[in-house]
Amino acid sequence: MGTFALACAATDDALAWCLLTAAVALATTGTALSALTTLGLTAAFAAVLALIRPLLRTLLERAGRTGDELVLALLFVGLCLSAYTTDQIGVHPAFGAFLFGAAAPRGLPAVERSAARIRAVVLPLLLPLFFVDAGLHTDFSTLPAGQWGWGAAILAVAVVGKWGGAAVAARLTGSDWRWSAAIGTLMNCRGLTELVVLGIGLQTGVITETLFTLLVIMTVITTAATAPILRRVASDDPRMTPPTPHDDPEHAPGPGGDPMTRSPNPVLDAVLTRRSAPRLTEPAPNPADLERLVQAAATAPDHGRLRPWRLVAVSGDERARLGDAFGEAADTPQQARRAAAKPMRAPLLLTIVHRPVPNHPKVPEWEQLAATTGMVTTLSLLLHSHGFASIWRTGAAIEAPQVHKYLGVDDEQLLGWLYVGTRYASDAADRRPLDTPARITWHTSGI
Ligand SMILES: Cc1cc2nc3c(=O)[nH]c(=O)nc-3n(C[C@H](O)[C@H](O)[C@H](O)COP(=O)(O)O)c2cc1C
Repeated sequence: MGTFALACAATDDALAWCLLTAAVALATTGTALSALTTLGLTAAFAAVLALIRPLLRTLLERAGRTGDELVLALLFVGLCLSAYTTDQIGVHPAFGAFLFGAAAPRGLPAVERSAARIRAVVLPLLLPLFFVDAGLHTDFSTLPAGQWGWGAAILAVAVVGKWGGAAVAARLTGSDWRWSAAIGTLMNCRGLTELVVLGIGLQTGVITETLFTLLVIMTVITTAATAPILRRVASDDPRMTPPTPHDDPEHAPGPGGDPMTRSPNPVLDAVLTRRSAPRLTEPAPNPADLERLVQAAATAPDHGRLRPWRLVAVSGDERARLGDAFGEAADTPQQARRAAAKPMRAPLLLTIVHRPVPNHPKVPEWEQLAATTGMVTTLSLLLHSHGFASIWRTGAAIEAPQVHKYLGVDDEQLLGWLYVGTRYASDAADRRPLDTPARITWHTSGI
């Protein structure tokens, strides 16, 4: 539910920023022609940012190898330049900041860490100041008595538009009423973005102080009402279990997947909602959690309990070293560059090392391989049920002597890597059903 609502909210936000750009351009430039010019320039700037995105990724990737400081500086300079550009174009600097945020590459650990460092300053320091500023412009005492009726009308339109719109759309696309009402409730939460938008509207003269005050009241009411209403609508619905805390082994799986195929059974739920995640970000399990999960995964069927496997965990800067080994094994400089960046796609890489017992009297090697793959599959399911995500990847590197040397693999078989981390909320995780009758042949009587 959370993942789905976040994806809807992200789409909604992107659209809202586009509409706001148009509104500000119209309000600040005067004529329709100059508004069109401003909009055209903003669109051109957004296109330039989209075009240089791969370049930005390469630049930040390289900078990340020298440490986080350079990445932080580059992000900060990029952010300021982008804000300055949209300011010069004639729309608000916040648009530039938003566009730069959208263009900044995801999944690079150095970028994620730098973004976390920026948040660590902005959230406790600048965010309260922003609220103070919004509060200073909100003056209930000067609101004429006649305006309260307008306030109620704004609130009604806002709720019908957002709660009603989202809930009806969810219902029309096949969700039941309860799920639809919960999606509507989450989408109805205006939160911080609304206050930012209102602040820009006030600054640029699109709205008056009175309208600003009425809209702030609507924002505060719809935001504050979200949690209590959601509790009423959804608290005892098993599909709406809160996202799994990463350190709680007792929890049911987190949200994701097709709600229509979910069930209250946590095991079935985990199996149905697990999807491999091509893009992964922090956090990954810490060493203690990983040990616990591997303990559990080792209960997968294993003839003779031979445990014919071991894992080599690679994280942090060591991923760049593994990337170097990948690069050395590549055929061309271009392939080497791409291969070297691969380990940075996830915060943790679990190297799957298969070490079968040779000539075992009872357990042939193919059975031992089945035991190893059973453990890896169980581990990926357990990771998912604890709120993490993973993807099993192989490639030519599993044969490369440079890679074997770096990992300390000798006379063993590399089966690839389980890339582990956390799925991006915006990445879809649904799955098409399989035609099971075609896959099961029955030889039976009495069915
Ligand atoms: C042994 C093995 C090796 C794989 N190697 C790769 C790989 O190198 N690259 C890749 O994109 N997917 C690879 N996959 C497939 C993904 O791990 C994943 O299973 C696939 O994308 C299907 O997604 P799902 O797990 O959500 O059904 C491999 C799967 C297995 C079992």
